[in-house]
Amino acid sequence: MKDLTIAVVGATGAVGLEFLRIMEQRHPNLPNLKLLASSRSAGKRMTVGGKELVVEETTDASFQGVDIAFISASSEVSLKYAPIAVAAGAVVIDDGSAFRMEENVPLVVPEVNGADLEWHEGIISIPNCSTTPLVMVAHPLNQANTILRMVADTYQSVSGAGGALIEELRNQSRDHLDGKPGPNPPSNKRVAFNVIPQIDRFQPDGYTFEERKMIQETRKIMHCPGLAISATCVRVPVYVSHSAAVHIEFERPMAPEEARELLDAMPGVKVVDDPDHGIYPMPCDAEGKDDVLVGRLRRDASHPNGLVLWVVADNLRKGAALNSIQIAEELVARRCLKPRGKSGIAGR
Ligand SMILES: NC(=O)c1ccc[n+]([C@@H]2O[C@H](COP(=O)([O-])OP(=O)(O)OC[C@H]3O[C@@H](n4cnc5c(N)ncnc54)[C@H](OP(=O)(O)O)[C@@H]3O)[C@@H](O)[C@H]2O)c1
Repeated sequence: MKDLTIAVVGATGAVGLEFLRIMEQRHPNLPNLKLLASSRSAGKRMTVGGKELVVEETTDASFQGVDIAFISASSEVSLKYAPIAVAAGAVVIDDGSAFRMEENVPLVVPEVNGADLEWHEGIISIPNCSTTPLVMVAHPLNQANTILRMVADTYQSVSGAGGALIEELRNQSRDHLDGKPGPNPPSNKRVAFNVIPQIDRFQPDGYTFEERKMIQETRKIMHCPGLAISATCVRVPVYVSHSAAVHIEFERPMAPEEARELLDAMPGVKVVDDPDHGIYPMPCDAEGKDDVLVGRLRRDASHPNGLVLWVVADNLRKGAALNSIQIAEELVARRCLKPRGKSGIAGR
């Protein structure tokens, strides 16, 4: 990695900052890093691995000499700059939803479908931060006993919506405790001391786009196009880490003990499950950690082939930045970093 030049578009954002922290931890001999953001941050100085770096505005010329471009800003930014970066010879690892469902863009969680990196054409997407923990636990179970149906209900932290909502939760909590009026609904919902059953825009079928993403992305990553899956995504007043209650129906019964063994053997998953002693995963335990934590394993009382799990992961790490860095590592290990020189995305 140290011989590479990595551009980080969105380096000043919640995910971008975590990306830089993980780089320092996993790769102390840092690659050549190019920090990019909007014109608002141009000239800002940031210290990474003891070195002071200056943030530059992202432009069409930003990607010359770049091996990997990690883009974590917005769909508009990805749509504009990913093809430019690929044309300049970089491989793009994109954090947004812009390309995830494109047929020729691998959507990758390395522990689950790292082999899909072999067919990339320049752009690789990472999943939504609530999808990644779900597939990390569903995949090893599905290999042992086919999953027929899954229902995931999420409890998602404010950092999943970026740095601005972290600040908003801080301010709203202070104002609420001080007895000041909250924000004016419906445009700006109160997230402090509240839960909001909407993440992203509503679709005509009543699901939100976040829920739609979880459904489609899970099928694509697990190579299960026909998987029956439903989700309800909820924002909760937690700073970091997304949680989910997951109900899985298998082809055959799955004993919790068997599930525990399979999950224990899955790299990147840690079973935290001792309810008798009050031990189960919580967002505060997952924050800053790389592992997806799983607990509350039990038979589903409503179905003979059902299993219920409680899954928690740091949305900024495994849900975003860590997964991207693991993809970069996997690209190097698989010798898949050869620039393709074209985006492979028709019309872009
Ligand atoms: N947060 C999560 O848990 C999570 C997980 C998975 C995926 N994602 C995805 O990751 C992306 C970023 O999320 P975030 O939470 O880090 O958001 P954020 O905290 O709001 O940060 C946004 C970043 O994008 C930069 N940016 C904005 N406009 C730009 C432009 N025109 N050109 C270049 N850079 C620009 C911002 O730079 P300035 O500082 O200059 O404004 C900032 O660095 C989103 O697509 C999100 O869906 C987030």
